Amino acid sequence: MEYTFSDRVSNLKPSAIREIFKYAADPEVVSLSAGNPSPDAFPAKEIAEISAKVLAENPISVLQYSVSEGYTPLRRHLTEYMKKEHNIGREGDDILITTGAQQVMDLCSKALVNEGDVVICEAPSFIGSLNTFRSYNAKLVGVPVEPDGMSITALEQALKDNKNAKFIYTIPNFQNPSGVTMSLEKRKAVYELAKKYGVLILEDNPYGDLRYSGEFIPNIKSFDEDEIVIYCGSFSKVISPGMRVAYCIAPKQIFQKLVVCKQGSDVHTNIWSQYVCDEFITKYDFNAHLEKLRKLYTKKAQFCMDLLDKYASPAITYHKIDGGLFIWCDLPESIDMPSFCKEAVLKKVCVVPGNAFLTDENEKCNSFRINFSTPTDEQLEKGIKILGELANSKLK
Ligand SMILES: Cc1ncc(COP(=O)(O)O)c(C=O)c1O
Repeated sequence: MEYTFSDRVSNLKPSAIREIFKYAADPEVVSLSAGNPSPDAFPAKEIAEISAKVLAENPISVLQYSVSEGYTPLRRHLTEYMKKEHNIGREGDDILITTGAQQVMDLCSKALVNEGDVVICEAPSFIGSLNTFRSYNAKLVGVPVEPDGMSITALEQALKDNKNAKFIYTIPNFQNPSGVTMSLEKRKAVYELAKKYGVLILEDNPYGDLRYSGEFIPNIKSFDEDEIVIYCGSFSKVISPGMRVAYCIAPKQIFQKLVVCKQGSDVHTNIWSQYVCDEFITKYDFNAHLEKLRKLYTKKAQFCMDLLDKYASPAITYHKIDGGLFIWCDLPESIDMPSFCKEAVLKKVCVVPGNAFLTDENEKCNSFRINFSTPTDEQLEKGIKILGELANSKLK
């Protein structure tokens, strides 16, 4: 049979970087290309305790259908916590529990984006979100990321040029993939520009709790007196991505549409996972758990940067990070990045080519992304040594 796909998806192609990922499945390949939490990061014992108790005492509460908005105690606790700790959530806002942060991008696209509408994204940005926006036939407009966050001049130009821009998608803390954190001045400037041009902001913050150095910077949503920011948080990087629990805090009218869209997608987020997250953040010492993660990753991030200094210099330079799970590396102009990544994978180390994160994958890019949370220290050392030797051999 000849299948005819919808206009929405018929032009979607598997990404060019899948070619490289095919090799990553080889157990001999050191993969620095994932974005998974460390195997040492999961509170497995606590999750087992909570699950065993609820299944023994009140199994129906986590096995039955539930409500689309999310598990009520979790919504209440998160609402209180985000207001108290981050000044996020006002009278006009409501909170929706979602199946991962990925679903927030999907529901926002479904609710807000018509075919051809513009979504302004940081360039580079998170592939998963870019692909979601693409799947709704949004036109992606990239704004370059500078060391202190997206270029404000380029953002204003993009807003002037694209009257049909629907939202600005930003990852202000320890951005995936660049590791960059947006300065307070720029957060305020992005907010003011969104207000001036009548465009929403979708603020994605899965890494905010994973700060290893520097001072906390208020989230854009904390300025939101005008109901123009949708804030997205996730438990994926701080409890477990497999549990698929995230949330968004959005102006009520948007929230209501997101709920209707969610009903058509998956009815509700896994109630058992929501229950476990709620118990874990309220009945256990969640702050101590976060502290443990920060300690683990501070060590791993520093180890990774030390290895880059030792093995990769001078051919590979990198951007120092204050948090998150990724390090963005640059090659000199004289080295062709895509060929470098292909050769690296043949030498059994896999990184993600930087152009995969651009709004236009065909644009020239001389960077690649390393993840340090998933590999063991031995794998990190082996992988970075190979990358360093390969890059430096090309300088000669
Ligand atoms: C910036 C960013 N947003 C969203 C996600 C998706 O997270 P979740 O597992 O909550 O769907 C990721 C995952 O890596 C991410 O890096």
